[in-house]
Amino acid sequence: MTVARKGPFVGFPRGWFVVGFSDELKPGDIKSLKYFNETMMMYRGEDGVVRIMDSICPHLGADLAAGGKVVGGGVVCPFHHWRYGADGSCVEIPYCEKIPKKATLNARTVKELNGMIFLWYHPAGEAPDFEVPVLPNEEQEGWLPWAHSIIRIKTHSKEIVENVVDLAHFGPVHGTHVDRFTNEFIDHKAIQHTGGVAYPRGGGKDVFELDATYYGPGFQISDMRGYMHSMLVNAHTMIDENTLDLRFGVSIKPLPDKEATENIKKMYVENLTVGFLEDVQIWENKEYLERPLLCAADGPIAKLRRWYAQFYHPEHFEVESVTHVN
Ligand code: FES
Ligand SMILES: [Fe+2]
Repeated sequence: MTVARKGPFVGFPRGWFVVGFSDELKPGDIKSLKYFNETMMMYRGEDGVVRIMDSICPHLGADLAAGGKVVGGGVVCPFHHWRYGADGSCVEIPYCEKIPKKATLNARTVKELNGMIFLWYHPAGEAPDFEVPVLPNEEQEGWLPWAHSIIRIKTHSKEIVENVVDLAHFGPVHGTHVDRFTNEFIDHKAIQHTGGVAYPRGGGKDVFELDATYYGPGFQISDMRGYMHSMLVNAHTMIDENTLDLRFGVSIKPLPDKEATENIKKMYVENLTVGFLEDVQIWENKEYLERPLLCAADGPIAKLRRWYAQFYHPEHFEVESVTHVN
């Protein structure tokens, strides 16, 4: 098996990362989250609020995600029933009146928006310095709920992000004909504007206009106007430096015909899945070349790499020089 090279990046970039869709977590549910080489849990309190905390109990090390119980806005450890409140601090030890000062689970910054649960990650624990936007399906009536899926992939986040500028792969990998293709990099956003014709693997064709925007290094929304108006989510959250969970979803603005809408929604999800799987085969086997040999018609890969590097701690990367060969 080929092991992908890590390239110049050490650790993980800061940003908002999707750790689940809202419909996957009901009040009272606790889920283990193993991301960024850390052991955490997310749970939805009886008050409906999602919280994310480190899940290893400071008492004797039980993992609260494995058998813990939600009580109110907090959680009870399965081992000796220490109870932690909504802010992570221990509020009760059933067999002792005095609670040790350090009995706290580190609470993380979390946001539930657009039908998704976002975790803010910063390698030094600093607060968010950018936000994710409110999407049309959150603020306008009529959009269908996300149809979503997840795949675990052996690759680094930067490989997926590079798709944003990789104009030349759309034909060979996805069978898409691209007529127009431009990129913009604005602060924490990397945007791709595309117009073209997609040839779904099941047959037919879809003339489309698409604006795909990354908000930070792990969350991308594509606003796609083709036969239907749809939004596509591409969200990747790193487990370790060479493994990630890729979550993707589709939300569409329905047509008056319900049955046609359902069929199209199904087809969009299937095509999106096929599209990602086409990329996965490349991602899992490719090497990261710090000095790729580019030609004049390749997209702005160097710019994209500089944009991506801004999310790393300055000590954690060296920006490589990438040159275009004319
Ligand atoms: S290990 Fe959690 S209460 Fe003892
Ligand atoms: Fe791709």
